[in-house]
Amino acid sequence: MSTTPYLSDRINNLSESATLKMTKLGRELAAKGVNVISLSVGEPDFNTPDNVKNAAKQALDDNFTRYSPVPGYPELRQAIVNKLKNENGLDYDPSQIVVSTGAKQSLSNVILTLINPGDEVIIPTPYWVSYSEMVVLAEGKSVFINTDIDSDFKITPAQLEAAITPKTKLFMFSSPCNPTGSVYSKAELEALAKVFEKYPNIFILSDEIYEHINFIDKHESIAQFPSIKDRVIVVNGFSKAYAMTGWRLGYIAASKEIAAANDKLQGQTTSGTCSIAQRAGIAAYNDGLESVKVMKEAFLRRRELVYNLLNEIPGVKTNLPEGAFYFFPQISSFFGKKDLNGNVIKGSADLALYLLNEGHIATVGGDSFGNDNYIRLSYAASDESLIEALRRMKEALAKLV
Ligand SMILES: Cc1ncc(COP(=O)(O)O)c(C=O)c1O
Repeated sequence: MSTTPYLSDRINNLSESATLKMTKLGRELAAKGVNVISLSVGEPDFNTPDNVKNAAKQALDDNFTRYSPVPGYPELRQAIVNKLKNENGLDYDPSQIVVSTGAKQSLSNVILTLINPGDEVIIPTPYWVSYSEMVVLAEGKSVFINTDIDSDFKITPAQLEAAITPKTKLFMFSSPCNPTGSVYSKAELEALAKVFEKYPNIFILSDEIYEHINFIDKHESIAQFPSIKDRVIVVNGFSKAYAMTGWRLGYIAASKEIAAANDKLQGQTTSGTCSIAQRAGIAAYNDGLESVKVMKEAFLRRRELVYNLLNEIPGVKTNLPEGAFYFFPQISSFFGKKDLNGNVIKGSADLALYLLNEGHIATVGGDSFGNDNYIRLSYAASDESLIEALRRMKEALAKLV
């Protein structure tokens, strides 16, 4: 990690987001005229639904362009409360909702709200790149629970309990998971909730941003268990379900105290998020799930496509992810091999760079998600791009000796 002496330790100790870095490298190569296929971004390749865009246009025409209340407009918070009730069976009051500039800000807010220097945060690996770095910013300590492909990248209650110490303050995870696509079932969540029942000082940060991209069943939230609900902070947002990544709209649902603390933090940092995006969010939640269904069907088809193509590549091992739009195949069989210039592939970051330079496909090394034996592929791309990307990947990997 490069450091600059006059910058704060906080920033010098922070890693650059690997997904954004690979996306940047891919764009740089593309700018030189190379046909790069990007499988590195966590972004639906669909457009924001028309009803949502129309609501934003109307908001502009209505001059709905002033500072917004820090935790979000009451109508949006009510729409979120209704959504949580109708879709997830969860009861919240609008005062328990804080709207933000995306799930990313909400996650960061919650960590800054709860973590004192030295507090431990349990994170199952592989995890979304920013989790551990947000803990670094709060001067907390990440405690990782390792999982692998053979357990579908899910932790057991015994693993959770073994990771708990008197310093544990928070457990954070995503289901459906980025980067693995794994989805915890209700029974699995209940078993984890039973462990948390024994430790009343631990909070649970449940990142549910991929809830609608779930191929096995309806979405299950760990907030559904009354014995721990007060300690669960649900994080969600509009980016993935409604193809609204650029609008920057997310939220938490939490106890009144935690919501008030997040409101206070936001009041001193970003203030309320974009007024126009909030009106768009109200339309998204009030107008139903039709566009979400269309997107999910496309992802399901692509999942089958990529699964079959990955299985045809010698040396690559994959499971069948149950949600989100990622594969996290094991690629460690290529470690120690050399490319045509004699460079040795030492880990997943080298392999991702090799695939970019040789195969012109952008992926992300598993090391930045906490497990070096894998790479992450996003299948939020057209069927043709996916077929071509997997062809290139197979060809490039076959050249390693
Ligand atoms: C697991 C996970 N959580 C949160 C986010 C951030 O979402 P948002 O765009 O709402 O900030 C992402 C985006 O990639 C994600 O993958």
